[in-house]
Amino acid sequence: TDGPAVDEAQEADEGSPVSRALEGIREEVAALSDGRVADYIPELAHADPDTFGIAAVSAHGRSYCVGDAEHAFTLQSISKPFVYAVAVEELGLDAVHGHVGAEPSGEPFNAISLDERGRPENPMINAGAIVTTSLVRGTEGRFEHIRSVLSDFAGRRLSVDEDVYRSEAETGHRNRALGYLSLAGGVLVGPVEEAVQDYFRQCALSVTVRDLAVMAATLSVGGVNPVTGRRVVSQRTARHALSVMASCGMYDRAGEWGLRVGIPAKSGVSGGILAAAPGAFGLGVFSPPLDEAGNSVRGVAALERLSDDYDLHML
Ligand code: DON
Repeated sequence: TDGPAVDEAQEADEGSPVSRALEGIREEVAALSDGRVADYIPELAHADPDTFGIAAVSAHGRSYCVGDAEHAFTLQSISKPFVYAVAVEELGLDAVHGHVGAEPSGEPFNAISLDERGRPENPMINAGAIVTTSLVRGTEGRFEHIRSVLSDFAGRRLSVDEDVYRSEAETGHRNRALGYLSLAGGVLVGPVEEAVQDYFRQCALSVTVRDLAVMAATLSVGGVNPVTGRRVVSQRTARHALSVMASCGMYDRAGEWGLRVGIPAKSGVSGGILAAAPGAFGLGVFSPPLDEAGNSVRGVAALERLSDDYDLHML
């Protein structure tokens, strides 16, 4: 493959300047106490609001982790740009966008947001992500294919948190409704229940902040996992995923995010945020309390600081 050799990837020591800088930001941002842990998926309500970890992986595959870096949480919406990449890789960009738009919706993640052609506005809101999942085929079965590619992004085999999966499968009726609307609009490839179940499973994949940073770094460097050296998606597909993250990844905060942070990113309701600074760093942050848009309060603050201090803004 064309990535760096595996033995080049190493855990940088804790005393490195990058780790010290991350620790400084973590300590400062930990003082923020606002936000609320998501509870509409009942299992997520058990999260400890004080858990807080930050990880960075460089374009050369070096990783730097501070705080609760080994704590496992579920991907939730952070799965969306990666499943979008799976669909684009399999079907091509135009075919995927026959089913889902590419415009920021300016609306919450669970909005009923369909464009004039009956397509969900973009693949980052729930409606668009469920449609995107429905498009994936894969020879080994849809979810196994999704799990396998997302595992390649992370550089290790990811498993499903069955409790979170079950909790969302039992309560996620709004997502089912979004699926049926998209089926009625002719853009979801049915059956709806199968698409929604696979969407719940992808959302329940269990990760750490280090996994997020490796996944982000893989997009940042154009589709080759910098830790394993394996190509996961084409350079073009990686760019497409970064593009939709940049325009739609932070929902109705996408504009504000672009202004203040300026790094393609994706948040999830469990409290994770993944950010991919093109050509530079993959970043992962986890802290469960969320703002009203469903983005981690400390995660947003930490990434704002990182972007500012290290000049990571794209523009
Ligand atoms: O579909 C849902 O509601 C969740 N599985 C994922 C939503 C989510 O993570 C929104 N992001 N902040």
